[in-house]
Amino acid sequence: MLLFRCLARAFLFASVALALTISHPQVTRGSINLSFGDLTIKSGSFWSIFDNNISIFKGDIRVKKNAGLFITSTNKLIGLKVELYAGKGSIKNEGLIVFNSLVSLTPSFYKLIGKSFTNKGEIFLISSGCALPTAALLAPKWKNTGSITFYQAKRNNGIVSLGSPGSKIENKGQICLFNQLYKQTTRIVGSGCITADQDSSVFFSNCLMDIDRKQTVYLADSKSSVRAVAIAKPRTFRIAGFGNGNKIGLDLPLFKLLSSPFSYNSRTGILSLRIKGNWGQDFDIGLGYDSRLFKVTTDTSLGLLSVPWGAVKYEGPVPNKQIPSNCRPCKPFPPAPTTTTTTKACSPKSTTSLTTSKTSSPKPTTTSTTSNAQTTITTTWTGTTTRTITETDTPGGTDTVIVEEPTTSNTQ
Ligand SMILES: *[C@@H]1O[C@H](CO)[C@@H](O)[C@H](O)[C@H]1NC(C)=O
Ligand SMILES: *[C@@H]1O[C@H](CO)[C@@H](O)[C@H](O)[C@H]1NC(C)=O
Repeated sequence: MLLFRCLARAFLFASVALALTISHPQVTRGSINLSFGDLTIKSGSFWSIFDNNISIFKGDIRVKKNAGLFITSTNKLIGLKVELYAGKGSIKNEGLIVFNSLVSLTPSFYKLIGKSFTNKGEIFLISSGCALPTAALLAPKWKNTGSITFYQAKRNNGIVSLGSPGSKIENKGQICLFNQLYKQTTRIVGSGCITADQDSSVFFSNCLMDIDRKQTVYLADSKSSVRAVAIAKPRTFRIAGFGNGNKIGLDLPLFKLLSSPFSYNSRTGILSLRIKGNWGQDFDIGLGYDSRLFKVTTDTSLGLLSVPWGAVKYEGPVPNKQIPSNCRPCKPFPPAPTTTTTTKACSPKSTTSLTTSKTSSPKPTTTSTTSNAQTTITTTWTGTTTRTITETDTPGGTDTVIVEEPTTSNTQ
């Protein structure tokens, strides 16, 4: 009896301690159960998973430098569901993580709840934007020094959630939003940057929490907006790229009985929005704005409660076009490797490189191909660097070779 109990305990322990280490390039297609425990992807290797409807992780997810974890849907009926259950593990990424559900007509669901979250590499969470997708990277200890991109092909009522409500996120790196709404619910520390592009919004919904004065929201297009909840002791938010119709607003209508609900200080570059007394928020938009070009308007961005006359827009161009030094460019997402056919590079450095032929590569930026010609697309992947070579061979004509390097590390 005792022996049986000991055996049972040993067995239980064994099943808890299960872990998987990927040390070679690996491609998996179709359903796979990922609830095995800890996952480590070693440097120089990757795991590219296709059409796994439901991916539930129940352990640490560690992606090392020059390693990649890809989960991709190639079926419009498969909206990826990728989850890490609360209390089951931590996320530590130094390489590349790409979850791509761009082709699916059903909503994607990305919800990773870690004991801690650390990103030094690159993460891309990609969605078609159909129905109501979820994108959440949650952890009480949350730190980003790399880049995290939330991409949707179209805007909807879904929100991006980071950290864990009431705690803090540390962003010293880059967060990129495309057709997304990020709703802040935590303290934000660090001098990083949040870039809002292609109709994205940043909503500071809990302004009683400290938000680092150096954290920058960069409005990269003309449709993106910022909103902050009005409070009695206004904070100052650093905003770059404001102009061309971008909106900055509050959660209440901008209406003041005897004075203007907004003012711009041309000496400090601060735009102040006030609703009553000193209630409101301040936005450090920079110098050079023409006070006559600010207009009160309504921000009707999807996912945000529409507040009539709750925002101010600037009708002129952005006076200072320089991208702040703490904001890094948002990169297009890399295609997932489809085969493990490796070709050893004949260079003195022993880098493991991988050549794959791919059939489709949905990317935010696409290159056009010539009809009636033989086009070969080769993707070489060396850790976090993806090199795409498009060779167009026109019979009897000239050959065109387009080399694209969408994920070369930036030089900041
Ligand atoms: C996946 O594997 C885990 C651990 O072995 C098991 O508990 C779970 O039931 C499996 N899930 C499915 C859907 O088979
Ligand atoms: C994916 O999983 C969901 C939820 O279990 C299910 O409703 C759907 O039919 C699955 N789709 C495919 C293509 O397997």
